[in-house]
Amino acid sequence: MTESSVRWGLLSTARINERLIPAFREAARCELWGVASRSAEKAAAYAAEHGIRQAYGSYEAMLADPQIDAVYIALPNGLHEEWTVKAADAGKHVLCEKPLALTPAEVDSMAAAARRNGVVVQEAAMVRFHPQTQRLRQMIADGVLGEIRAIQATFCFTLTNQADVRLDPAIGGGALWDIGSYPVSFARTMMSANPTGVVAFQTTSERGVDVGLSGQMRFEGGAVAQFVCSFQSIPHWGAEVIGSNGHITLDVPWTHQPGKPTHARVVSGGASTKATFGDSTDHLKDETLTFDGRSAYLYQVESMAASILDGVPPVISLDDSRANVQTLVALYESAREGRIVTMS
Ligand SMILES: NC(=O)c1ccc[n+]([C@@H]2O[C@H](COP(=O)([O-])OP(=O)(O)OC[C@H]3O[C@@H](n4cnc5c(N)ncnc54)[C@H](OP(=O)(O)O)[C@@H]3O)[C@@H](O)[C@H]2O)c1
Repeated sequence: MTESSVRWGLLSTARINERLIPAFREAARCELWGVASRSAEKAAAYAAEHGIRQAYGSYEAMLADPQIDAVYIALPNGLHEEWTVKAADAGKHVLCEKPLALTPAEVDSMAAAARRNGVVVQEAAMVRFHPQTQRLRQMIADGVLGEIRAIQATFCFTLTNQADVRLDPAIGGGALWDIGSYPVSFARTMMSANPTGVVAFQTTSERGVDVGLSGQMRFEGGAVAQFVCSFQSIPHWGAEVIGSNGHITLDVPWTHQPGKPTHARVVSGGASTKATFGDSTDHLKDETLTFDGRSAYLYQVESMAASILDGVPPVISLDDSRANVQTLVALYESAREGRIVTMS
């Protein structure tokens, strides 16, 4: 690592790399150095196609190269822990895709590896790095919406490829792991708290992974966050936070793309004391905040560089990722067993 820049390696030729490569190229203080694949031919072809200077014919070969400072891990979910620990033990900083792991114990193992090697390990839940998410969290913490009563969120798309890793139960397939992890993280972030109990319903495939799941999370004080995620719906997403004094509606909560600004409608001002049924909205302040069209991936990569080079605390702590995994596990338990799961 030079004093001023981080040399990155892509650990796999995953499709999501396509979103990260422009971010690594545009980000200040980052250099995209290499790509590794289980196949040397695949790595070489991928490097040539994307103009990446170094190709490695195995993940181990990239981890052994002292030129690499940090790796981006976009493996199937069931391999996150194994390769994050191997990368950290090789002295590399790690940006690992969401969900960070499949059990809290796996997150503990990753955290222990980060600690013993003095490296940054962070979950690549890109939404959390976007200014829209951070600004809304602050507004809610400042009380703009009053007491939060409800959160509603949706993340759905159509998954047609039956060979997709998302449908493989052996490596962490499932709609909740894949896209449900965003609304769960969103609700926990907006509440600045973890749920006290959860309940969920799922639709499972013949191979036994959830292809659709709806969940509810109850928070201390009574707020409830509801969400739906599905692999079997037209692409659709949205999020809403409803409080005693106002509400926020997002058109693009998760998929911020370059060149496409996103919007948050913020209605605030509190209930009218004059309306008979408390349903008058005439007095409310109604404004729309617009967020720039930089990709969330770019903010994420620049934030990692700041943590690695300047020691800035990660946006998503490992405790935070652990709590997200714990919530996802509880939602699965509820869906499987048909009961409310209490969380401590
Ligand atoms: N943040 C986001 O916006 C976002 C979006 C999509 C996905 N993701 C996350 O990124 C990760 C990868 O998702 P993806 O859709 O990009 O996956 P993908 O295209 O299927 O790629 C996964 C890669 O992992 C490697 N791999 C190693 N062992 C494998 C195995 N047993 N089976 C399949 N692949 C294996 C392969 O690379 P080699 O053959 O080169 O070794 C493969 O290209 C997941 O954790 C997912 O949740 C995040």
